[in-house]
Amino acid sequence: MSKIATLEIDGKKYEFPILVGSENEVAIDINNLRDLSGAITMDPGFKNSGSCTSKITFLDGEEGVLRYRGYSIEELSEKANFLEVSFLLIFGELPTAKQLEKFENDIRRHSLVNEEMKSIIDGFPKTAHPMGVLAALTSALTAFNPKSVNVENEKEMYEAVCKTMAKFLVIASWTYRKSVGFPLNYYDNTKGYVENFMRLMFEVPTEPYKENPVIIAALDKLFILHADHEQNCSTSTVRMVGSSHAGLFASISAGVSALWGPLHGGANQAVLEMLEEIHANGGDAEKYMAKAKDKNDPFRLMGFGHRVYKNFDPRAKIIKKAADEVLNTLGVEDPILDIAKKLEEAALVDEYFVSRKLYPNVDFYSGIIYRALGIPTDMFTVMFAIGRLPGWIAQWKEMRENKEPIGRPRQMYTGQTLRDFKPLEKR
Ligand code: SDX
Repeated sequence: MSKIATLEIDGKKYEFPILVGSENEVAIDINNLRDLSGAITMDPGFKNSGSCTSKITFLDGEEGVLRYRGYSIEELSEKANFLEVSFLLIFGELPTAKQLEKFENDIRRHSLVNEEMKSIIDGFPKTAHPMGVLAALTSALTAFNPKSVNVENEKEMYEAVCKTMAKFLVIASWTYRKSVGFPLNYYDNTKGYVENFMRLMFEVPTEPYKENPVIIAALDKLFILHADHEQNCSTSTVRMVGSSHAGLFASISAGVSALWGPLHGGANQAVLEMLEEIHANGGDAEKYMAKAKDKNDPFRLMGFGHRVYKNFDPRAKIIKKAADEVLNTLGVEDPILDIAKKLEEAALVDEYFVSRKLYPNVDFYSGIIYRALGIPTDMFTVMFAIGRLPGWIAQWKEMRENKEPIGRPRQMYTGQTLRDFKPLEKR
């Protein structure tokens, strides 16, 4: 592989270093392109632009490969639990038994959320979308933790990680509890992280919550599968906001807002709504396939397609298998799952989808499991956020530790050139 890339503009040649990653990905370092040539690159949506180097997650869209710190998602989702994977993403190695126990206990130490946060959530109507409430409450945590973490101080950074993991889980459950008018629950320091989530969500003062190990295992796997995904929209947002040295809570809050969009994490809610609509209209998958292919129809087959995966999304394969297992074990009959499978089968042999390499992504089947676990549809993207939290933290931490410069892209101006002011009476 040559070490230099040459660019020619108006007969003048410019040379740029070629970088090669640990998985042999190739990048052209254009750090001084504008200084040398006066030109910038244009790449709306950053489809061809790398924003950083990272040691956290590797994905190969052509081969359907996803690894966290070198471990395959297939192994991690089978053999590890969510807190182990969170520790791996954030600190770089799988924890020892002692480290994992300490991590779990240190998260417990921070699981109390300031009572004044309750008056903030009370300001929201019950009808507010949980993602909007979660973004606001996450940012509000800054009010009770005003000191920005010193990323150079390992102890301070570790404490900020535990605090964020603990409080985010509690306030995420509060967004649901608020919407149904139930009292806001507290974390139970005798229980595990994922067990706590189901209790925080569903335990009522009138009777103890009955844990179901099948549900806990399914949630743990789903959270692992959502934990990180390199420079996706919401993670890039967390990095961008953090690059101005805004605090961790403020950066995560921005990530929650980016994830909310139906083209990103909001797709899992949109998939269920789409499948329910198809079911309500007699389950005619063909009609919706035609709508998705019709350029004049804004309808898209939600849960299909991906910026990077031009083959199957490895997470979708695992979640599809888990959906069958969880529904069978829980004895849940859900016609929506059959409709999803019919849609997938039809799309996989349809020229429009095949030619555009549109396959089911992580959001296509996840909602079917959440629904079987009793999670309401408008909480699906909150579930995605809980899973993605350790990835956001890990990426923010790496960006700050690498002392990355403030994110500030250039643009191509295509507006009016200089013109004289026109007085009001002459307009
Ligand atoms: C996530 O980036 C990540 O890693 C994200 C994520 C993560 O873990 O963080 O993986 C999570 O966000 C998964 C994606 C969830 N979104 C959806 O399921 C929404 C539906 N999918 C799309 O809107 C779309 O596929 C995107 C947004 C996911 C990707 O869009 P791109 O890469 O910008 O591709 P595009 O919009 O340019 O589409 C290319 C072509 C277009 O047709 P043509 O103009 O070439 O004729 O494919 C078509 C699109 O119209 N197309 C679809 C489609 N997705 C793309 N047509 C119908 N249905 C779809 N779902």
